[in-house]
Amino acid sequence: VADTLLRGRTLSFLRWPESIDDHAAYAYEEDGGLLLRDGKIVAAGPYAEVERQAGEGTKRIDHRPHLILPGFIDAHVHFPQMQVIASYGAELLDWLNTYTFPEETKFANAQHGRRIARLFLDEMVRHGTTTVAAYCSVHKASAEAFFEESHARDMLNIAGKVMMDRNAPDGLLDTPQSGYDDTRALIGEWHGRGRQHVAITPRFAITSSPEQMEMAGTLAREFPDLHVQTHLSENHAEIAYTCELYPQAKDYTDIYDRYGLLGQRTLLGHCIHLSEREADALSDSGSVAVFCPTSNLFLGSGLFDYQRFRRREKPLRIATATDVGGGTNYSMLRTMDEGYKVIALNGEKLNPFQSFWQLTRGNAEALSVADKVGTLEQGTDADIVVLDSAATPGMRLRMETVGTLAEELFLLQTLGDDRAVREVYVAGRPAKSDLGAIA
Ligand code: GUN
Ligand code: FE
Repeated sequence: VADTLLRGRTLSFLRWPESIDDHAAYAYEEDGGLLLRDGKIVAAGPYAEVERQAGEGTKRIDHRPHLILPGFIDAHVHFPQMQVIASYGAELLDWLNTYTFPEETKFANAQHGRRIARLFLDEMVRHGTTTVAAYCSVHKASAEAFFEESHARDMLNIAGKVMMDRNAPDGLLDTPQSGYDDTRALIGEWHGRGRQHVAITPRFAITSSPEQMEMAGTLAREFPDLHVQTHLSENHAEIAYTCELYPQAKDYTDIYDRYGLLGQRTLLGHCIHLSEREADALSDSGSVAVFCPTSNLFLGSGLFDYQRFRRREKPLRIATATDVGGGTNYSMLRTMDEGYKVIALNGEKLNPFQSFWQLTRGNAEALSVADKVGTLEQGTDADIVVLDSAATPGMRLRMETVGTLAEELFLLQTLGDDRAVREVYVAGRPAKSDLGAIA
């Protein structure tokens, strides 16, 4: 396969930008180059320097004047909920019972799972997202469908069969033993195959019996390098019911703690109504709080306190995510726009460099995959998004008055969506243009 040389305005973060003037937090090249070989970035920097390393037969793609960034990362999303988005009028528990659980029962049919997995990853790529941490349905076949589709595209994805053995329709329940066995089988079949990562995925404490939580904890002990993903402290009725189901626990967070489910690789969706004790427990264990702004607004769940979590004496690791189908958009640009507004309601601001750090390197660090994705550094995987800041008439007009990179990024976040995503590279290969008619 020929090498590929990309040319454009490259932007990659080195660390969290403390302020809008913290230029040392990122590398930006007005005329940048990236040399891609065998799915990796083998050279990055000023175009003239990178170009010198390009051999004969190198395919050259000129993306000027567009921005070239690491592909976006979505740290919490439900692939079986594509046909749940836009379900009207309910808060979390009613939304699950009325819309979401009935929809997920359809994934007992493996063919349905394969169709939705394909359309889901198409939609992710179309929106510039190259890595997700995904929930599948309870059915092992849904996770197999997801991994087959992900592996065929050579995407770095994290996913797990949801474990749930109570408080849901019969067609959506496993047992402590089958949840354990199916997860183990998926690990054997898929974990570490190509770029696939299996996650231990107890849905949340309401739908897992203590016996199942015990089994999830056993898996986490047996496979310490696996991610654990679940939901925490999303909605007041959910929290009250959860604490009724686990009366011995100090609070919601303590349930997961007791079963050995907190840790550096644990991703906790929502974390909206945490007490200081709970936030301390997440910080002490290195667990990640996942901010899902469109979902939290749509379901009326509450306002995630991003800046409080960052600035507290014991800070939290934070990721951001769509949470489709509770979330209302596939785009991480739309998601960060809503995130900005949620943070504004808490009387704070997130500057555009911080937003784009979060979408790329920040989420990669939160998922412990920053050595592979989330940056444009030499030696990392070539998962890349190309962004057009003048993709629509309104964006083009606003761009006329934009003078700085920070302003341009904020415009992209505020007005951008899939239309601003000109191209996506997955493991060095064009992926969005490859979707053809769908785009
Ligand atoms: N809590 C348990 N399951 C879910 C889900 O599918 N979506 C959301 N938003 N919260 C949950
Ligand atoms: Fe969720």
